Amino acid sequence: MKDLYFITSNKGKYKEVANKLIEADFKVIQKNLGYPEVQANSLEDVVNFGVSYILERFHKPFIIEDAGIFIKNLNDFPGVYSADVFYKIGCKGILKLLDGIKKDRGACFKSVIAYVNSDKQIHVFAGECFGHIGFEEVGDNGFGYDPVFIPKCENKTFAEMTVDEKNRFSHRGNSLDRLLGFIKE
Ligand code: IMP
Repeated sequence: MKDLYFITSNKGKYKEVANKLIEADFKVIQKNLGYPEVQANSLEDVVNFGVSYILERFHKPFIIEDAGIFIKNLNDFPGVYSADVFYKIGCKGILKLLDGIKKDRGACFKSVIAYVNSDKQIHVFAGECFGHIGFEEVGDNGFGYDPVFIPKCENKTFAEMTVDEKNRFSHRGNSLDRLLGFIKE
């Protein structure tokens, strides 16, 4: 097994990533290094800034990830602001913003992962998951907006799924599949 550090403070993300990368014989180690999440226009910019910060301080192969939820009816809000918005208003606040909207509740989760290998080469992979925002919080699993997000063609929220199940549908599962494809090549 090869060691791969995942620089994150988020245990939920860590579980999902570790569960997926074990397929490629990676032992994922969570490292809470703390890096600045700049306010940028895209998840890619956040990740690229994070990588350059970490590269100066950490010298083993690692990945970082940035994600967000883009709600169609709210002009893609909260998007890159998802972390701050979750901290301030949480799932309840999102449900309130969509109060009275019956049909047009489409949303997309996006994930961008940067993989830095032992030669310090940087490879970036993106993934997304389309779905909609439910009418109430349902489920106890997962983290963040999971209790209000229902992926397309499903009738349960991410928070009602196991890690395995969520990985099959999710934005993160998707970007990790791309990373795995690259590693296996
Ligand atoms: P970040 O990638 O840690 O900056 O996360 C942005 C925000 O989106 C945080 O509030 C997370 O909790 C939330 N978030 C990121 N990924 C997911 C997910 O897979 N499910 C639910 N919420 C998520």
